[in-house]
Amino acid sequence: MPGDDWLHCHCYRRRTILGLALAPLLALPARAAEEGEAAKPPAPDDRFVFLTGPKKEQVVRAEDLALGGPQVQAYPIAPDGTVRNDNRLNLVILARFDPTALTDETRARAADGVVAYSAVCTHQGCPVNMWSKERNAFVCSCHASVFDPRNAAEVIDGPAPRPLAALGLKLKDGVVTVASTFSGRVGVTQN
Ligand code: FES
Repeated sequence: MPGDDWLHCHCYRRRTILGLALAPLLALPARAAEEGEAAKPPAPDDRFVFLTGPKKEQVVRAEDLALGGPQVQAYPIAPDGTVRNDNRLNLVILARFDPTALTDETRARAADGVVAYSAVCTHQGCPVNMWSKERNAFVCSCHASVFDPRNAAEVIDGPAPRPLAALGLKLKDGVVTVASTFSGRVGVTQN
């Protein structure tokens, strides 16, 4: 029989779901981290490949991202061509905004308005795979936490306890490229 927690989460979902423009993003099943290059976290000079969609497995360029959202899901790809998809904690969301709409902190990490965050929700680890057109924000489909992509993925609604970890970016000939590692803890991990 569901308890208070279930009711709490269900209310969030019902209240927020009405304003969502569902992004066609894929929710991956959880898998344990494995050893090897493909499981290592994103590192400087990695690029990204689309997880799904018409450009699935192709390298992400800034121009591929719709200005103003929604986000796309992607995995990092190392300079040697290894896609780092053996650890679902490496799943990233990318989005592009007018740089003047970003906070100073976010603009400092962004590359010409492109931002990158961990796609792993800090509540219970679901993929942050939805977009709210009304709120211009990322939404986790599990319990409707909402994250502000223009302001360091701060939590603006829902039960998530902290922002999504951010990656620093640069552009190399228009290709979205990692400049610095995750800003903090990814998902619900405690390290
Ligand atoms: S896992 Fe609960 S809001 Fe994301």
